[in-house]
Amino acid sequence: AFVVTDNCIKCKYTDCVEVCPVDCFYEGPNFLVIDPDECIDCALCEPECPAEAIFSEDELPEDQVQFIEINAELAQKWPNITEKKDPLPDAAEWDGKPNKLQYLER
Ligand code: SF4
Ligand code: F3S
Repeated sequence: AFVVTDNCIKCKYTDCVEVCPVDCFYEGPNFLVIDPDECIDCALCEPECPAEAIFSEDELPEDQVQFIEINAELAQKWPNITEKKDPLPDAAEWDGKPNKLQYLER
């Protein structure tokens, strides 16, 4: 499956959700996740993310491996999202800041 990682937090651009053929994105207050059981590995979402926060599970940077579990867990909890909306207000400012996991709102 594909995985949403750290740099989505506090940005949430949502370009990714529009292209997913199986609508498997789920939305929290300041982050999105992919349901790994629904993702068909089409790779369409990866280039859409302006924050480059989406990776194939096989190509995850080492420090992002924890996001596999975070995506699986929160996809069970959060509502589905299929339409793009405005990014979070300070998205441009937060884009590229490291270690945003501490700010994840569940
Ligand atoms: Fe959806 Fe394809 Fe991205 Fe999986 S890889 S989340 S199926 S767009
Ligand atoms: Fe997040 Fe990128 Fe989608 S910032 S909401 S993974 S377009």
